[in-house]
Amino acid sequence: MNTAKILELLPAKAREAVDPYFEAAEVLSSVRDSRVLRSLAPSGVRGMLLHRGKQGVPTTVKASHDVYFDWSYPADHPEMRELYTRAKQGQWDSDTWLDWSIDVDPMNPEVQLLPDDFMNFGKLEEFGVHLSRDERRTGKASMAAWMLSQFLHGEQGALFAAAQVTEAVPFFDGKLYGATQVMDEARHVEVFHRYLDTKIEKLYQVNDNLFVIIDALMADSRWDMKFLGMQIMVEGLALGAFGTLYQMTNEPLLKELLKNVIRDEARHVHYGVLALREHITKNITETERREREDWAFEVSLLMRNRFLAYEVYEEYYADTLSRAQWREVVNSSKGLEHFRHTMFRRLVPNLREIGLLTDRIKPHYAKAGLMKYFGEAAAPDLTEESMLRELDAGAIAAE
Ligand SMILES: [Fe+2]
Ligand SMILES: [Fe+2]
Repeated sequence: MNTAKILELLPAKAREAVDPYFEAAEVLSSVRDSRVLRSLAPSGVRGMLLHRGKQGVPTTVKASHDVYFDWSYPADHPEMRELYTRAKQGQWDSDTWLDWSIDVDPMNPEVQLLPDDFMNFGKLEEFGVHLSRDERRTGKASMAAWMLSQFLHGEQGALFAAAQVTEAVPFFDGKLYGATQVMDEARHVEVFHRYLDTKIEKLYQVNDNLFVIIDALMADSRWDMKFLGMQIMVEGLALGAFGTLYQMTNEPLLKELLKNVIRDEARHVHYGVLALREHITKNITETERREREDWAFEVSLLMRNRFLAYEVYEEYYADTLSRAQWREVVNSSKGLEHFRHTMFRRLVPNLREIGLLTDRIKPHYAKAGLMKYFGEAAAPDLTEESMLRELDAGAIAAE
């Protein structure tokens, strides 16, 4: 089925009405592996078709993992124990570490939340949308609020996923470490919410694609899939997004907030790599390993292609642009390009490190333009400080 052709045949109004459904179908039909599709489809229906994250009421997700007890309290993973010690020492209190007295004005051109070229205003003009200086500022402020809102929703997912993996992981040292991550994620929920609530005064609903990924991880009963999804994929996404915003923003409170969050997130990815490296390369069958390799690839593409800020589109541009035009505007924006680069530079080497970047899957990544990241450093070779130093030096420039 050629969806673009079918859409073209429809009158404009009908085209806009069915576009979200076609897009959802396209996401699911682009998943090539049937086992991967089976594991993502129920969440896809809940998120993209039923919009479960957008009903204005709390959502429940049925969890089905085993809780793993060990009554002998073994010292079973020295590297995780070391990470636990570092995490205890790295705890910070947002009330005293961040200067909440800083006045934030998203419309202030002197202290910009995002740079002027973050959004592709030129492309908007091509489509006949001419914005005044103030309207451009509003557009950028909305984009910043949308990104920070998705960070907050992602952090809520991370908080519950960290709690789940703390129960389910078979390493005792990992459980101790996991408890520190639960606290970290609670702090991240706290700081992003406080910033949005008291400084930006705006909160967007959860993006459907983010909901799908979180929903799928919450419901999956396999501890290593939760790890792969949350500690490697979503944390990789978070590091990419936080790093991008950290480099681009001039607002001092947000910059300091992100710096502290990035330090915590670097430990979280490191933990994910430690937990999965041995498990995937030694404990599971080749068929199981291949399933995880395919899953990681499909979710990478979902993350690359699908965070398109439709929630902003619906608020401001739904009357003047088609959804397809909006996709073009977002996909060609400098901010998104930079984010994708930062994310994959962190994510792809970690997949290699845990045994999910074999010669079988490499050509698919290469086809998606991601080959240049094959040789980059993985999480165990990066410290929290070296990651921040690199961001400060602007070493991760958009290409
Ligand atoms: Fe977090
Ligand atoms: Fe995290």
